[in-house]
Amino acid sequence: MADVAEKLQPEVVPAYIPSTVLQGPAREEAIDMMRRLAEHVRNKTTDQADGNWLEPVDNYADEELFRAEVETLFKRIPLPLALSCELPGKNSYKAIEAVGVPVVITRDAKGEVHAMLNVCRHRGAMICAEGTGSSRALTCPYHAWSYGMDGQLKGIYGESTFGDFDKDERGLVRLPVEEVAGLIFVCLTPGIEMDIDAWLGEFKPIVESLKLDELHLFSSRMMPGPNWKVVIEGYLEGYHFASLHPNTVFKTNLSNTAIFDGFGAHERVAFALRNLEANIDEPIESLDPSANVGSIIWLFPGMSFAGSWRERMTCSLVLPTTRVDESITEQRVFTRSPITDENREDLGVFRDFFYDVTYEEDYITGYGVQKGVRNVSGTTQIYGRNEPGVQYAHRTINRLMKENHVDGFALPQEA
Ligand code: FES
Ligand SMILES: [Fe+2]
Repeated sequence: MADVAEKLQPEVVPAYIPSTVLQGPAREEAIDMMRRLAEHVRNKTTDQADGNWLEPVDNYADEELFRAEVETLFKRIPLPLALSCELPGKNSYKAIEAVGVPVVITRDAKGEVHAMLNVCRHRGAMICAEGTGSSRALTCPYHAWSYGMDGQLKGIYGESTFGDFDKDERGLVRLPVEEVAGLIFVCLTPGIEMDIDAWLGEFKPIVESLKLDELHLFSSRMMPGPNWKVVIEGYLEGYHFASLHPNTVFKTNLSNTAIFDGFGAHERVAFALRNLEANIDEPIESLDPSANVGSIIWLFPGMSFAGSWRERMTCSLVLPTTRVDESITEQRVFTRSPITDENREDLGVFRDFFYDVTYEEDYITGYGVQKGVRNVSGTTQIYGRNEPGVQYAHRTINRLMKENHVDGFALPQEA
């Protein structure tokens, strides 16, 4: 950790650049959030849950429960596997692996979005390497079979030598997909009906107000981490800022000073920035929420937007791999204005700061937690009243595991 503290000197902490995204009711709501936070700054308080929450540590390490979580939470629930702006034009695609399932999402020549298993129907090769790109067809690197952007099998190399079969039967396996509010939701189980409006519920206007479809992708990378629940917890509380991020996040954010709101399975956590403390005597309406509030917009089961009202924002999508003690986070940096030669260098500094803090400070700590829980089997962790966002995520996990329970699968242990 010392290395990071040295590397991330305070002067490197990037400045916030406001944007004009907050308008109308969204701006009113942000001002209201700022008002709530200002009260906490004055009183040295924070939003609190009704009581503490005990979580059996074996819920982070149990293989059977992990398989149940993957089946129940990740394979049946709509996953926001892409932002619309990652497939910015016609004939574009994104390939990503989610809980061991290779997926390719495409936008065809008409602009319509499709999702398929990224698995060739000849002999199973992965068709697109992970990442984004543009193409008029998806061509398998193994024997060059090619598919339309809608997954239909179009071309067979050496077709006259291959032998007859029905091409219509050998399109890519289609997955349920829907594009809503600048996000592309995919369900990893073919045939499941998704109702994204119902799934987002009253969170939908909050997501819409981020205007995600107007963003530009600056960078993206995959970052390994420990168990997915260990990782998501780090995004949902600001109790750790002073101790874990003294030279980085804590330079701009107050510690243990946050508001929390739950919306169905999703939630919003917002932290008071030091600017708010400095501006505490100003009329709240005169302050810019983006420079005084650090908000996390969090979609279950693991997508977190930070800095979402600003010119530069980040999005992290946490997904389990096929192992209980391993996750993978897709970390992306977006901008609201186009990327130019002028802002590229600054954006690089911002990206490196975001990557380094998340990995070197949060995720390295998470690996320690993962090792720790294996050594105290049978005990519990305790989440404080001042960690309502973490409590809410666990309540949601337990609720959804029960509601969607499939016979033969484990349920989380209760303390
Ligand atoms: S496996 Fe894809 S063309 Fe052979
Ligand atoms: Fe953190």
